[in-house]
Amino acid sequence: MRVHVADHPLITHKLTVLRNKETSSPTFRALTEELVTLLAYEATRAVRVEPQEIETPVTTTVGVRLSEPRPLVVPILRAGLGMLEGMVKLMPTAEVGFLGMVRNEETLEPTTYAERLPDDLSHRQCFVLDPMLATGGSLGAAIDFLFKRGAVDVTAICILAAPEGIAALEKATEGRDVTIVLGALDERLNENGYIVPGLGDAGDRLYGTV
Ligand code: PRP
Ligand code: URA
Repeated sequence: MRVHVADHPLITHKLTVLRNKETSSPTFRALTEELVTLLAYEATRAVRVEPQEIETPVTTTVGVRLSEPRPLVVPILRAGLGMLEGMVKLMPTAEVGFLGMVRNEETLEPTTYAERLPDDLSHRQCFVLDPMLATGGSLGAAIDFLFKRGAVDVTAICILAAPEGIAALEKATEGRDVTIVLGALDERLNENGYIVPGLGDAGDRLYGTV
């Protein structure tokens, strides 16, 4: 598993505003979208393309276009939905599937409550969106799901991760082609399974408590 932690002052600046508990939901949503677009630039570095011949006003030249089958973007509901617009802005022709997962706040175990994905993901490059990688349970289950459907490689974009979650995912994804792109790698998990210093509950900060 490859882990790439973004190292850019603009990303750190936007993250600082996101972490601030005084930041309102509308600002939080706007910043999340901006951050994802920046992280997506790194995450799509190995997206598959094929040659395409075109005519410019001056001459004929060979450029590239995204290969078929098109990449699949999978936001993990609910918080991952806040990352979707930022991702498809960069890759508008990608297809989008959905996974709904919620972690039990007592046991920290994830359960899947919704799934809308192609049955066959053979030859697909998949991009999973989830802002928080805490214990790694939710993302691990999502990645396992995609590989069982035939995905060839999976890249996850997360805003924040805890070292404990990265270690757990490393084990869970052994032998599979997985890349994790992070806005920041934080210090640790607290006794409630929250990332420290973190930003709190990403879903609540995006959409309010339910
Ligand atoms: C959050 C977050 C991740 C998960 C991370 O979702 O968006 O999916 O927790 O925790 P883990 O790494 O320990 O599994 P949550 O279950 O709170 O659902 P929500 O997106 O609906 O708020
Ligand atoms: N889920 C969140 O939304 N935040 C955390 O810190 C951990 C899990």
